[in-house]
Amino acid sequence: MSDVGAPGDGGSIARRVAASLRSRGYYRVLKRLHAELRPATYLEIGIRKGDSLALASASDACIGVDPQPLLSRSLSASCRVFEETSDDFFAGHDVRDVLGGREVDLAFIDGMHLFEFVLRDLANVERYAAPGTLAILHDCLPVDAVSASRQRTTRLWTGDVWKCVFVLLEHRPDLTLTVIDVGPSGLLMVEGLDPANRVLSERAAAIQETFEPLEYEYFARDRARVDGLAGTVDGVVARVCAARGRRTR
Ligand SMILES: C[S@@+](CC[C@H](N)C(=O)[O-])C[C@H]1O[C@@H](n2cnc3c(N)ncnc32)[C@H](O)[C@@H]1O
Repeated sequence: MSDVGAPGDGGSIARRVAASLRSRGYYRVLKRLHAELRPATYLEIGIRKGDSLALASASDACIGVDPQPLLSRSLSASCRVFEETSDDFFAGHDVRDVLGGREVDLAFIDGMHLFEFVLRDLANVERYAAPGTLAILHDCLPVDAVSASRQRTTRLWTGDVWKCVFVLLEHRPDLTLTVIDVGPSGLLMVEGLDPANRVLSERAAAIQETFEPLEYEYFARDRARVDGLAGTVDGVVARVCAARGRRTR
């Protein structure tokens, strides 16, 4: 979840307040995906109070990763929380082992809100993907320039996660991307992950060089490319279930 708060200029504040009013929309989408996909395994990066992690209560195995969790939710017995950064977590654990020998069915990436961290998280999740794995990236639809910059100066901070959409369009045309316009700052659904694919890690340095300097104006100008990915939760669910085939629980 992204918080909403003070500093900023007039129009930006108004946009952030509007985002705040829509801020719980993505929980409804996540809740629906858990209900309809019934993922046996779930991995969440960035859990804070555990509000989104708690939605995975029906999964057989569930992992939450956060260097500074502030858990205020009771979690199911199947859920293990790793108090470390996602980079340390992936470096130190075989996720398949932690999940009892299974791949990741559903992943929610909502940790550090800088695009290179999110891409690394996605690449690491992809190593444990199977047909029908769905990865969800939070904050692909920024609210304004202030909260979409790499420096955090506002409580509502989506960072430059929005760049991930453009990176994936350019470097991973094999993936199926769907943008769900839900408050406060959108969800990007990523389907078609391939555990053998190393493009994101092999091109990480070149991607960093190209995309780090981009400012919010790039998003504003090219927004039509992101809007062109708009889709529905129904569509995502139908495709994921079809891709799972016999893996459906
Ligand atoms: C926006 S909050 C997550 C909210 C939660 N997913 C929800 O929707 O209820 C972001 C969380 O990411 C965590 N975080 C920051 N850097 C991280 C990293 N490198 N790896 C994993 N988590 C990180 C923060 O500690 C924070 O709790």
